[in-house]
Amino acid sequence: MTKTVAFHLQKGGVGKTTISGTLACQSALAGRKTLVVDCDPQGNVSSWFLQSAPKYELSDVLQGKCYVKDAVVPAPDVDNLFLLPTFGIGGTLKTYSETKLTEEPYIIQDLIDEVGKDYDHIILDLSPGLGMLERSALIASDEVITPMTSEVFSLDGLEIFISELAKIRKNMRVSVKHDKIIINSYDSRIKQHRDIYAAAIESGNYKVYLIPVDPVFRKCQELGKAPQLFKIRGRGMKTQTVEVFEELYRDLWNN
Ligand SMILES: Nc1ncnc2c1ncn2[C@@H]1O[C@H](COP(=O)(O)OP(=O)(O)O)[C@@H](O)[C@H]1O
Ligand SMILES: [Mg+2]
Repeated sequence: MTKTVAFHLQKGGVGKTTISGTLACQSALAGRKTLVVDCDPQGNVSSWFLQSAPKYELSDVLQGKCYVKDAVVPAPDVDNLFLLPTFGIGGTLKTYSETKLTEEPYIIQDLIDEVGKDYDHIILDLSPGLGMLERSALIASDEVITPMTSEVFSLDGLEIFISELAKIRKNMRVSVKHDKIIINSYDSRIKQHRDIYAAAIESGNYKVYLIPVDPVFRKCQELGKAPQLFKIRGRGMKTQTVEVFEELYRDLWNN
């Protein structure tokens, strides 16, 4: 069965979109047919990889206005990468999730079950917060990975996320795995970063990955590119960034 992986922490700006998009490229560039489901009403991962607005979006599928296959679009610049997009501007995912999702918490899971056989890997990019939309996306996932930054607020956020996830597992009877944390924009020269890393290791039975600050991300998000294929003045992603995505990919999909 296709493993579905979500990236989530209720805090914004910790790297959920950057990491889910980059991992999706890692998978697509390895020749695996990869689907990114954009579950964020802001549609950031969609605008990263799609230059023009597609006809349909995720919320159209959820509302039965079109089939999944009508809404999925290929990323023009990355072979094997497909998006089930969300329109950040003029989209209806936010309104839909606020009004309808409470009645249908398993609807994203049903959608993933439906398309699972068509893709090797599925990645969900989630919005900040822990409302019905994020819960429904978590229910649909086999595994959730928490990205965080090196600040005390992120550690608090991790603690809240762990306890909320326990409730979701119990109340919705799902067994979404959570054993990986990513500290994003990590700098080992800064003591606070080292302290947060130590605290993340101590917070439970987690494997902790470290991603450095890497200017390639911002640039390739502006230009719609895969970070792995991108170079600024002849320089691509930092070696540490390349290695961590290779490791994460191996750990997730065993290749
Ligand atoms: N490791 C990194 N190095 C440099 N910039 C980063 C890194 N991770 C994220 N960013 C930038 O930080 C901003 C927020 O990241 P984003 O992935 O959108 O967070 P989230 O999805 O959690 O809100 C984006 O502009 C992104 O380009
Ligand atoms: Mg995001």
